[in-house]
Amino acid sequence: MEAFKAAESRLKTTPARWLVTGAAGFIGSHLVEQLLRLGQRVVGLDNFSTGHRHNLDALQAASAGSGEFTFIEGDIRSLDDCRRAVAGVDYILHEAALGSVPRSLEDPLLTNAVNIDGFVNMLVAARDAGVRRFVYAASSSTYGDHPGLPKVEDEIGKPLSPYAVTKYVNELYADVFQRAYGLDCVGLRYFNVFGPRQDPQGAYAAVIPRWFGELVAGRSCQINGDGETSRDFCYIDNVVQANLLAATATDPAALNQVYNIAFGGRTTLNELYYGIRDLLVPGRPGLAALEPVYGAFREGDVRHSQADIGKAARLLGYAPEYDVHEGLGCTAAWFLSQPAA
Ligand SMILES: NC(=O)c1ccc[n+]([C@@H]2O[C@H](COP(=O)([O-])OP(=O)(O)OC[C@H]3O[C@@H](n4cnc5c(N)ncnc54)[C@H](O)[C@@H]3O)[C@@H](O)[C@H]2O)c1
Repeated sequence: MEAFKAAESRLKTTPARWLVTGAAGFIGSHLVEQLLRLGQRVVGLDNFSTGHRHNLDALQAASAGSGEFTFIEGDIRSLDDCRRAVAGVDYILHEAALGSVPRSLEDPLLTNAVNIDGFVNMLVAARDAGVRRFVYAASSSTYGDHPGLPKVEDEIGKPLSPYAVTKYVNELYADVFQRAYGLDCVGLRYFNVFGPRQDPQGAYAAVIPRWFGELVAGRSCQINGDGETSRDFCYIDNVVQANLLAATATDPAALNQVYNIAFGGRTTLNELYYGIRDLLVPGRPGLAALEPVYGAFREGDVRHSQADIGKAARLLGYAPEYDVHEGLGCTAAWFLSQPAA
């Protein structure tokens, strides 16, 4: 936490101009919110394909402080939109992409267009505008079929989905842009991020918001497989910390790197289900006896995932503040505070 506190106080005294792509999405909106709290000038870019205007509304309160927020509705598949968004920016936090392994299996062309063409557009725009740092959302899916646990950054397997291919290609492009054009890049391989504002709706919703949404509505949840599949679930505030550290790191050894961003633990889907249910029981006693329904394993899913976060700790000073249980507690409070769907 020392490095993070120091980075935050430096930013407060010397505000900068930031671009957050995917600002109307889950992770992007939290990044904007924290930057505004720190008094930064922030530009958000989004095309609302999976993000929501109501996530931007939630930012109004944060911008009531000293920060300044400008929003551009645009598409990263348009180089012109990217150029417009990067003008005068110091730091880019690039989050815009189409997430979800199943979506990419159903529509690989669209996932490729957004996650690769859009990514290269952002790199070109960042290079030409002379931004100081390009921090981007990479993914734990890049570990693919590599069996090693915990995952260490330089031991990856073959990708298991088009989504995973796109996220790995992002890393290759960022590396080339750093070497060929001197654009300082840092990739953050997120592991199953969760928290308030994550979308519970739709076929491609992630497991934690989906289950909160189902249980708050009193419905039972489906577990894909036997429930012993495990993940390193990471609360959103840890991801915000990692982004600010990556953007402001001054050690040259920390640049042109990719880092695992996770808590560094492992939770099975069975543990997760009962953890979420039991957090909701005090307000919803009727859920106490509700059991999950078990279905088939999902195509493209890896069985276990857990990060070694030592590299981010060493080179960025990353020290995740919230474990899964604390994060689920904050997330439960948020879901319970939302009007019924
Ligand atoms: N949530 C996770 O667990 C997780 C894990 C690994 C990596 N990631 C990556 O983190 C990033 C953010 O994910 P998230 O969970 O916040 O997802 P999200 O869907 O909530 O946010 C993505 C945002 O990008 C926007 N977007 C999509 N296509 C766009 C386009 N062509 N132009 C402009 N904006 C576009 C969407 O409208 C959305 O607001 C993504 O790059 C994702 O691949 C997320």
